[in-house]
Amino acid sequence: MQAIKLAIEAITSPGDEMVYLSPAWPNFAASAAISGVHPVAVPLQFEDGRWQLDLDRLEGAINAKTRALFVNTPSNPTGWTASLDDLRAILDLARRHALWIMADEIYALYHYSGGRAPSFLDVMQDGDRILFVNSFSKNWSMTGWRVGWIVAPPEAGQVLENLIQYSTSGVAQFMQAGAVAALDHGDAFVAANIAKAALSRDLLCDALIATNRVETLKPDGAIYAFLKIDGVTDSRRAALEIVDQTGLALRREPLSAMADRCSCAPASCAIRSRSRSRPIGSPAILPGFER
Ligand SMILES: Cc1ncc(COP(=O)(O)O)c(C=O)c1O
Repeated sequence: MQAIKLAIEAITSPGDEMVYLSPAWPNFAASAAISGVHPVAVPLQFEDGRWQLDLDRLEGAINAKTRALFVNTPSNPTGWTASLDDLRAILDLARRHALWIMADEIYALYHYSGGRAPSFLDVMQDGDRILFVNSFSKNWSMTGWRVGWIVAPPEAGQVLENLIQYSTSGVAQFMQAGAVAALDHGDAFVAANIAKAALSRDLLCDALIATNRVETLKPDGAIYAFLKIDGVTDSRRAALEIVDQTGLALRREPLSAMADRCSCAPASCAIRSRSRSRPIGSPAILPGFER
């Protein structure tokens, strides 16, 4: 999260605009706003049972104040995963309008057709102005450690260094040591996490689809199911009722584009019954869906 905030501060000034694709994890827009930057949402289209990028709409949102495009792929919460062609088209747009791209590819390894998800790394060239923000939170389950990183072109290096120096002055040494250990010894752990997320995705989505009351899709990437429940017009109220009645926690998406949808995180949320909670990657949670 701090990488996102620092990256915004590095490439914008108060009064600028940043364009992002929605539905989106709400923290990006909030983080831009507290930096005095106006976050402009461009909705993905839900067509033919899939989330799709509308490039014309994306370009239409760009004006003289726009400084950067924020692209989260695979996406929280929709699971939309940009294809290489999508990434090339976004990059072309950014080049033509002299914009930065902030690439949040934190879920790149949670890509269910195998291998890492398509990345700006695959299509960029020297000189492209792309800041990659990333984190130890997801792959290594180190959310509480608050360790992340930014990959930036040399021209942004000094600014970022200053921003870090004058905020936290850096990650505490013992946390850095933990992160290095994760990099050196964590591959099997990451692989197991991804396998668990794939199992969770299938269990969760199959159970939801089997209710015949839910419109959803198996996400191509990331660790969330984003859904629309038949007859539900107030997703906040529905999420509260569901947690009260079944103990299953859903998160309401605050964005207007899909205000009647809820999302839940199959890899990280749990169904709670009194003091016990069960990870969603286990068939033991299926009774929760039946409720
Ligand atoms: C898309 C996305 N980016 C960034 C983050 C930030 O993660 P953290 O602050 O734990 O590093 C999250 C967390 O949920 C996320 O979903």
